[in-house]
Amino acid sequence: MSLIALGVTGGIGAYKAVEIARGLQKEGHDVVAVMTRSARRFVTPLTFEAITRREVITGQWKPGTNADIEHISLASGIALLLVAPATANTLGRFAHGIADDFLSSLYLATTAPVVLAPAMNTNMFAHPAVVENLRVLRSHGVRIVEPGSGYLACGWIGKGRLAEPEDIVAYVRHVLRPSPTPLTGRRVLVTAGPTYENIDPVRYIGNRASGRMGFALAAEAVARGAMVTLVSGPTALEPPHGVELVQVRSAAEMHEAVMARAAAQDVVIMAAAVADYTLDAAPQKIAKSDGSLVLALSRTRDILAEVGALPSRAEGRPVLVGFAAETHEVLDRARSKLTRKGADLIVANDVSRRDAGFEVETNAVTLVTSSEVEEVCLQSKTGVAARILDRVAALVERREHPTAAS
Ligand code: CTP
Repeated sequence: MSLIALGVTGGIGAYKAVEIARGLQKEGHDVVAVMTRSARRFVTPLTFEAITRREVITGQWKPGTNADIEHISLASGIALLLVAPATANTLGRFAHGIADDFLSSLYLATTAPVVLAPAMNTNMFAHPAVVENLRVLRSHGVRIVEPGSGYLACGWIGKGRLAEPEDIVAYVRHVLRPSPTPLTGRRVLVTAGPTYENIDPVRYIGNRASGRMGFALAAEAVARGAMVTLVSGPTALEPPHGVELVQVRSAAEMHEAVMARAAAQDVVIMAAAVADYTLDAAPQKIAKSDGSLVLALSRTRDILAEVGALPSRAEGRPVLVGFAAETHEVLDRARSKLTRKGADLIVANDVSRRDAGFEVETNAVTLVTSSEVEEVCLQSKTGVAARILDRVAALVERREHPTAAS
């Protein structure tokens, strides 16, 4: 049983923290609640005291609190600091190292993993200051449970609602997994979905990719303790909790998003179906005429190949995984892609099968590395994602301990 500090800050979602405390206890954890002054306007400390059966920490200056400098002793005694809800103000203070109350001092003083579950108004969440603070916090190793979308207490509809208590508890469970996996703490970037190339303001060229395979990979990587960035083209899927989601539309936008982050990653998995061709979009809607319409297409940049051409791992090149959607000569074409694009692993999909690949829940793939070929039989995309990540983990370890593996 581990001790978890549950920071509660002043948002309307504060009442949901009671359920989170209960959920953590059901998982066998001991919970100590730390409430900010504003949080106490929403819920009383008594509620948390009754649930946690521990004195609730409400301030830094209460007599007795400093007998053993409580924020320091608590900081070293906890297995994890969870703040839910985390307000925009809390994110700002944490990101900038401001320690003006018990919770923010505890945040700076602890070396335990930190999980923040932000909740605020949609416009606040989208404000560049908040976006930047979240980026800074992630770069400091803080894990973020993305808020959900929907009807907010302030009457708005959009993103900003505190993630569901059971999802937050599940996220904590993953972070505290007893045995670290080879991907724990690694930075993993996954691309997913199709890209759309605009023809004019109302039409585009797209493809049938649903994003499911990439989203399953991102979820599985989070479950294994990785810090995951999901660069996704347009999809109808809810992103898994715990990922940093970067939404893009075109191949060029995906290229920019991936290349800006690739060198900082341990692993890059290109599961997206990126358009091979694009065009200069007409500024106005193209009206039909009697003749045929000819669109001049030009090649997009090959993101996988560009990441594959980054300097060697010693200088920062990530383990690189590409997908190959093939209808024939699956293995030969996958092998040639492996060398041509400088990838470490190609996941070959036979898209001529109706039960595998695009727009279905299942997949069957062949994993191709320079030395091995592994068939992964038809199963859920989650199951396939687990096999792919087993392989990725082995590649990460082999890269770091080359002699141990050979
Ligand atoms: N990919 C990419 N950038 C592109 C196109 C594709 O990173 N502009 C990546 C995909 O995400 C996938 C792999 O490359 O991981 C697919 O390779 P690609 O050569 O595009 O395969 P296909 O288009 O399926 O095959 P072909 O070479 O036969 O056109």
